[in-house]
Amino acid sequence: MTTKKRLQQLCEQGRVAGHPLRYLPETDSTNRVALEQGRSGGGTGMVIVAGHQSAGRGRLGKKWLSSAGGGLYFSMLLRPLLPLDEVAKITLAAGVAVAEALEPLCRERVMLKWPNDIIIGHRKCGGILAELDISSIDTPLVVLGIGLNIQAPAAGYPPEIADRAGALADFSTVSLEDGSLLEGLVTNIDRVLVELEQHGWPAIRTRWQQRDITLARRLTWVTARGEVIHGVSQGIDEQGLLFIKDDSGVLHEVLSGDVQLLTR
Ligand code: BTN
Repeated sequence: MTTKKRLQQLCEQGRVAGHPLRYLPETDSTNRVALEQGRSGGGTGMVIVAGHQSAGRGRLGKKWLSSAGGGLYFSMLLRPLLPLDEVAKITLAAGVAVAEALEPLCRERVMLKWPNDIIIGHRKCGGILAELDISSIDTPLVVLGIGLNIQAPAAGYPPEIADRAGALADFSTVSLEDGSLLEGLVTNIDRVLVELEQHGWPAIRTRWQQRDITLARRLTWVTARGEVIHGVSQGIDEQGLLFIKDDSGVLHEVLSGDVQLLTR
């Protein structure tokens, strides 16, 4: 079955891996659509997939490049049965789920860069953006957005990310099809989120740590206030926060901002 046929079949069924599925050939951002739907009270479990996003959202207000045919862009609308401090682990747990789903398709180990980058062959091939809304009711609304580059853009990546961005097709051992990829990812995310709900973060944390690309490596951390700190990654703690020891020996807890490895 070809790529388009499988996704088309799922769309016709209106379901993927047991979840209601909504396909939007074009939208601004599946996260925005899912948040809107969730805020109006509905759609729990819904998966929203876009063929193309005109304003795909990335972390730290960045734009996620979402060209038609170049990638897989989807959001899951969740109302997890988790206390609020555990809800924050969903983005990390989803990283493990995505990495474990992609690994059998790739000839290189799928790594994670805190908090949400999917790295293959030292290239960022995907990202995860979880957005949380606790305004409405008892159960928080979490929109888990996943973007995966499947093919490099025909015109190349924008210069500011050209040295870091990559696509699954560059590392895969099989022909990729977005419908099957979507099914595999949603199934794995479900499995890992059930683990999180039933057994808590520690078991998943160990798997995250085994894929941590920064551990014990030199990196630069640009804080949310624009301060630049150079140091060595100490990995994540039991809360999923990253620690960096700077060049004067001071330990920093990374709550936000961006980290970049200095060497490969
Ligand atoms: C990042 O690495 O900065 C996170 C990128 C997340 C992109 C995905 S694409 C599907 C979903 N909808 C969005 O607007 N963003 C996420």
